[in-house]
Amino acid sequence: MMKFQGNHILSVSQFDREAIAKILQVSAQMAPYASRKKRCHVLDGAILSNLFFEPSTRTRVSFGTAFNLLGGFVRETVGQENSSLSKGESLFDTAQVISGYSDVIAMRHPQMHSVEQFAQGSSVPVINGGDGANEHPTQALLDLFTIQSEMMHFNKGLDDLNIVLMGDLKHGRTVHSLSKLLSLYDNVKVTMVAPKALQMPDSVISTLSDAGHEVILTETMAGNLSADVIYQTRIQQERFASKDEAELYRGHFSLNKSVYQKYCQENTVIMHPLPRDSRPEANELDTDLNDLDNLAIFRQAQNGVLVRMALFALTLGVEDQLTDYEKPVNWFTNKNA
Ligand code: NCD
Repeated sequence: MMKFQGNHILSVSQFDREAIAKILQVSAQMAPYASRKKRCHVLDGAILSNLFFEPSTRTRVSFGTAFNLLGGFVRETVGQENSSLSKGESLFDTAQVISGYSDVIAMRHPQMHSVEQFAQGSSVPVINGGDGANEHPTQALLDLFTIQSEMMHFNKGLDDLNIVLMGDLKHGRTVHSLSKLLSLYDNVKVTMVAPKALQMPDSVISTLSDAGHEVILTETMAGNLSADVIYQTRIQQERFASKDEAELYRGHFSLNKSVYQKYCQENTVIMHPLPRDSRPEANELDTDLNDLDNLAIFRQAQNGVLVRMALFALTLGVEDQLTDYEKPVNWFTNKNA
């Protein structure tokens, strides 16, 4: 069994099924704390440095919230322009210094493999919050947690899944990490819907096909996809050479109620890592889907807190001590009303 304590989380490639099962199990144990039924202060006094050198809402805030929910303190740095990286400091030096100030570090950075480089200079565990177009391991884990909990309603698990990934699969790090994780399960069918120029990198496709899974590459949806899950993504404009180039693809893949009814089955779960680009020229996930029970996007974002709590507990080695550090919630909360 993989050892979590003291280790970095940089790529989903470091996990096997057993490790993932452990993460998903500890994540589920976090539910009473996240929903304010109880508090847990197992990380009382610990410090998270949350370093976000690229825009983020969910990932940054849920990392911080997750750490706070376990009783820890969070120190945050946002934007390269506000850090000494803009003075020419190396990632290694920054890591040496920041790791001296903290017990664990979460980091997002626009360059591929930058978080790995940073981790080499860190004396404490580093968790990758997204490194350019490369990977987003914590998102993929929360996506898997979401798929598992949504599939439970249909008496399905993580094997024998039929999943559709759509949009900017070339630059979308969430779908890179998710595809690699899915390759660990049995009999997965993945349909990748993207314009040719934005199709999934070959290395990711081969992770799935080498494991014996069925991968279908297509530029358009046709017929009923019979999908368990349809996972839409945003055109990652920030990864294109120019805005005009991104413009070419924007709006090509709008998932709305009529598309959903045409290509999906009654129970197809709709996911998206968010943010969805709601500008009319993009609108990849129409708000006319908002009233569908199968739209899991906000449950998915909530699950991010559970999974990140679990990753902190595991990397800091306190996953077996949670119940020893519980307290009642003394304020009014309608979270669970
Ligand atoms: C994603 C990301 O940053 O890769 N967002 C997220 O973390 N939930 C997806 C995106 O920005 O499109």
